[in-house]
Amino acid sequence: MARKLHNILITGGAGFIGSNFIHYLFGMSSAEGNLFDDANFDGTVVNVDCLTYAGNLESLKDIEDKFGGKRYFFEKVDICDRPQIERIFKQYDIDTVIHFAAESHVDRSILGPEAFMKTNVMGTFTLLDVARNYWKKEDESIRDDVLFHHISTDEVYGSLGETGYFREDTPYDPRSPYSSSKASSDHVVMAYFHTYGLPITLSNCTNNYGPYQFPEKLLPLMISNIRDGKNLPVYGKGDNIRDWIYVEDHNRAVWLIVNKGVTGEKYNIGGENEWQNIKLLHKVIELTAAETGKKVEDVEKTITYVKDRPGHDKRYAIDCTKIKTQLGWERKMTFEEGLQETVKWYLKNSDWINHILSGDYKNWINKNYTEQGR
Ligand code: NAD
Ligand code: DAU
Repeated sequence: MARKLHNILITGGAGFIGSNFIHYLFGMSSAEGNLFDDANFDGTVVNVDCLTYAGNLESLKDIEDKFGGKRYFFEKVDICDRPQIERIFKQYDIDTVIHFAAESHVDRSILGPEAFMKTNVMGTFTLLDVARNYWKKEDESIRDDVLFHHISTDEVYGSLGETGYFREDTPYDPRSPYSSSKASSDHVVMAYFHTYGLPITLSNCTNNYGPYQFPEKLLPLMISNIRDGKNLPVYGKGDNIRDWIYVEDHNRAVWLIVNKGVTGEKYNIGGENEWQNIKLLHKVIELTAAETGKKVEDVEKTITYVKDRPGHDKRYAIDCTKIKTQLGWERKMTFEEGLQETVKWYLKNSDWINHILSGDYKNWINKNYTEQGR
């Protein structure tokens, strides 16, 4: 039976990827011309987000103004709060869950792992269990016109050496509290499929970049620090490698899986775009200096090599042949263009970023990164 995809519960919609996803669904992303891709969605979105430090309703103001109370509803609720989640399923007659909500920053998981276990493991379990009960038919089997899509990360596969790629059948080998909590949640999702027949799909993606990312993550951190003339903290030797994908290319892949992905299957999503951190930083310096009128040589002097992240995974790289060949997904954004657009977005939306930098986050940085002169 076809999936309904009408009343969609999006968790973590006030965060980086979730807010971009909601913009994409409502045809309000910043993409233009060839990059524009209509999601062809005419249903309702319920955004469940408890607004941790990473949740920001300013990222959704245009959506609220245009669709609020009609096709878009915001619920400030913790995904671990079972009675509230049960109420939401019932009130909006949810037929699809797209689960983005998580504690997402590796550094924070090292400083305080508990919140990661609560939200990423117990929160995912709570959502799955409420969905299983709400979607149960009289004969105890589960409806087949519903779907629970779980968003996960390539970090569950561990760390690569100089060669090789993570495939869907690569054994899990998470190293950080963050990645171990995400790996645990992936296993619980799969267990609900095999044990209870809950219709699920799952995706594991590489590093996203683009608008609305919290400025503790590498790219917005570096762009805003260059803008403000602050130090650019590079962990270790800067030779770790990440594979970067534009956030809307990730979200287009998620929507494709939700529409056409095979129930019970997992799909890798990647940028096929590996960069050593230090080389990427040189590129960001070049672009940001050009936009701000600063001299590249001056900005280069602010690069500061700091103590490495404990257990810092060396290299991530995804083999995304499966989603390309089986579902016909392809990326639209080139890295050159995407990075340039991203630099411009953070410089243009200085109110969005200044608001974050001046709030509680400032105190948190001062307390936790004392030796790095951020
Ligand atoms: P983010 O930190 O920017 O946003 C997370 C959102 O979840 C925030 O709005 C926060 O308020 C909300 N949230 C956190 N705990 C919650 C709880 N208990 N109840 C309700 N809401 C809660 O994260 P992101 O970068 O947008 O990542 C979204 C998802 O994508 C995560 O599951 C992450 O693991 C995954 N992912 C991220 C990347 C990346 O590069 N950022 C790559 C692959 C996968
Ligand atoms: O791979 C997907 C993952 O990508 C997601 O699952 C995570 O949610 C997301 O945060 C991201 O994790 P990373 O740890 O790769 O992202 P981060 O931006 O924190 O760091 C990127 C790289 O840059 C990493 O090798 C560490 C390095 N780094 C990071 C910061 C914040 C620095 O050298 N200096 C820094 O100040």
